[in-house]
Amino acid sequence: MCGIVGYVGQRSALDVVVGGLRRLEYRGYDSGGVALVTADGLATAKKAGKLVNLDAELEARPLPHATTGIGHTRWATHGAPNDVNAHPHVDDTGRVAVVHNGIIENFAELRAELEADGHELVSETDTEVVSHLVADRLAAGEPLPQAVHTVCRRLEGAFTLVICDAQTPGVVVGARRNSPLVVGRGDGENFLGSDVAAFIEFTRDAIELGQDQVVVITADDIVVTDFDGAPSPTRDYHVDWDLSAAEKGGYDWFMLKEIAEQPQAVADTLLGRHSSDGLLQLDEMRLSDDELRNVDKIIAIACGTSYYAAMVAKYAIEHWTRIPVEVELASEFRYRDPILDRSTLVVTISQSGETMDTLMAIRYARQQRARVLSICNTNGSTIPRESDAVLYTHAGPEVAVASTKGFLAQVVACYLLGLYLAQVKGVKYGDEIRRIVDDLEATPAAIQRVLDDAEEVRKIASALAGSRSILFLGRHVGYPVALEGALKLKELAYLHAEGFAAGELKHGPIAVIEEGVPVFVVVPPKGRDQLQEKIISNIQEIRARGARTIVLVDENEVDAVSAFADHIIRLPRVPTLFQPLVATVPLQIFACEFAAQLGHDVDQPRNLAKSVTVE
Ligand code: F6R
Repeated sequence: MCGIVGYVGQRSALDVVVGGLRRLEYRGYDSGGVALVTADGLATAKKAGKLVNLDAELEARPLPHATTGIGHTRWATHGAPNDVNAHPHVDDTGRVAVVHNGIIENFAELRAELEADGHELVSETDTEVVSHLVADRLAAGEPLPQAVHTVCRRLEGAFTLVICDAQTPGVVVGARRNSPLVVGRGDGENFLGSDVAAFIEFTRDAIELGQDQVVVITADDIVVTDFDGAPSPTRDYHVDWDLSAAEKGGYDWFMLKEIAEQPQAVADTLLGRHSSDGLLQLDEMRLSDDELRNVDKIIAIACGTSYYAAMVAKYAIEHWTRIPVEVELASEFRYRDPILDRSTLVVTISQSGETMDTLMAIRYARQQRARVLSICNTNGSTIPRESDAVLYTHAGPEVAVASTKGFLAQVVACYLLGLYLAQVKGVKYGDEIRRIVDDLEATPAAIQRVLDDAEEVRKIASALAGSRSILFLGRHVGYPVALEGALKLKELAYLHAEGFAAGELKHGPIAVIEEGVPVFVVVPPKGRDQLQEKIISNIQEIRARGARTIVLVDENEVDAVSAFADHIIRLPRVPTLFQPLVATVPLQIFACEFAAQLGHDVDQPRNLAKSVTVE
């Protein structure tokens, strides 16, 4: 949450910073602002609302040229999203500008202390105290980096800070604790950003910062220390995507582009995962086969859409490995006194790698001596760094706030993990695993077919215009798909939408079915388990009560449902466990289309932000 940019170099700092903010806007869009270090001191501009408002402000009141600057796009925590609370926050001498992501928990006490000393604070934010505290240290004669060290040692909570000082031109200082910050290494210029999208246009060479580190950038140098000023280790990495991946590329919405990229995201996540003799290999994982053989329980932990990926993982991993899998919301996990020990494998799933609830669950699990393996889409992020092992998904950057390709790639990574565990534990023969992997490798083509048939889904979105409530039903792996379909619709269309396990309906929720209520039903492929027959009975039950049914079904099994379906969405044939990879896609398209028809901003839904870095 909140996007932060810092720049020192030869270019126009305003252009670099505002360009970076534009690519970070998915992290928050309550307000935007910039501060530049000019020959005449600090120049700032800030405005409530999306960045277009800041653009208009900068056009009406242009800022002088500068080559050092910082900027911020906000997801409000402390204080309403208005102009005064927008970052940067400048101290009352006008010398120090600060942007911040996170929550400074002891800000009230610091504010009281500053006010008692005669400082005048103008905003309701927790951030403003930092500019005053740093200005005090500078006035006491400390150089900017040292002033930041001193102040960071006094702060509690989560913070990424990026700071500039009117009297220290050509220097920007960043600090991080529990919130993301990465460094971009340029040639005669350097960058700071909440993520690499901030500077991907200029460099793909990045430095991952650790916990409690301060970084000082000038045009030619990058110095990283801990909060005491002692040198501190970092990790360099090269970003494997470029600017085009962070741009819309002709699509109306990032979300549509990301939906279309799903065959590639799945294929890339599967790439290079087995040797020529068919053995699965998950080299990057950092857990030995012996450690994995000792696993006797898995707890899969995540939030939101990633939590639904964890639900899918449970069905697949238990089926293939017979290891029990618990699925837990990250925000609930550590409060229930979970039973963990050295043979428990905690699997966390996070697209951004920065979700605070998930990070806190990881820290708790490791304190309890469990091993933590993270499935993550973002190299250089905090969650993989704090885990014992990592399995990266390769979906590329996800810019739309609502997750799509991130989810499919997570589900694929969960399948790979399950199959790998089955291999090392020896509970499946190699040729069985090979056959399953072959089926998995055929899914990108199946997903592409769903995308090619999207017109039918768009028609259904038009036909359902005006609906006030939409329900989703599924069984088995179709149940998390139903939950995900409902979540996508809630967050994009601001509409009442709920997903249910189809068998649960008769235990209460069926009471909400009335004439004309649209209900999407995910029908499992026909198998030995009678899942399909059961869900067809459920469709009849809701139809009899007036529901308008939209049935997602294997294209070879349409006849089984056509008598009870008002609309049919045909799915390519895939094995039951892989059905989420094809069945989720029409629901994503539906939510996107439905919300766009209502005139909503599909990429930046209200009240939300990507990368939720507060608990
Ligand atoms: C919904 C969505 C969120 C995220 C959740 C976890 O479309 O994107 O529910 O899935 O905030 O985020 P990550 O996966 O980054 O930990």
